[in-house]
Amino acid sequence: MPQEIYVCQTDDIDEEDVIRFDHNDQTYCVYHTTEGFFATDGFCTHEEQHLEDGIVIDNVIECPLHQGRFDIRSGKALSAPVCIDLKTYPIEVRDGAIYLFLDNETPQS
Ligand code: FES
Repeated sequence: MPQEIYVCQTDDIDEEDVIRFDHNDQTYCVYHTTEGFFATDGFCTHEEQHLEDGIVIDNVIECPLHQGRFDIRSGKALSAPVCIDLKTYPIEVRDGAIYLFLDNETPQS
């Protein structure tokens, strides 16, 4: 069953911006677009480039290294050189806070 992980407050991410979120040795990106909040894997699928320094344009993230683009909502790869989709994760906003839902989450000891 997916476990919800607190990320941050909604105010912590400006509209059309992205933040990095690290949890259990994994890294993610959490986005604030005009359509709401979304989450994906943190690294571009082309090379080991973190997307936190990318540019958010509407619902698209542009990788800072070679300008490959992904649809933030679906993770779909939109333009070369990226051809592998980004993994996306469910997000929930509740009482001004953002929660990320991760599968196979093992409790911290
Ligand atoms: Fe992202 Fe090349 S590393 S497009």
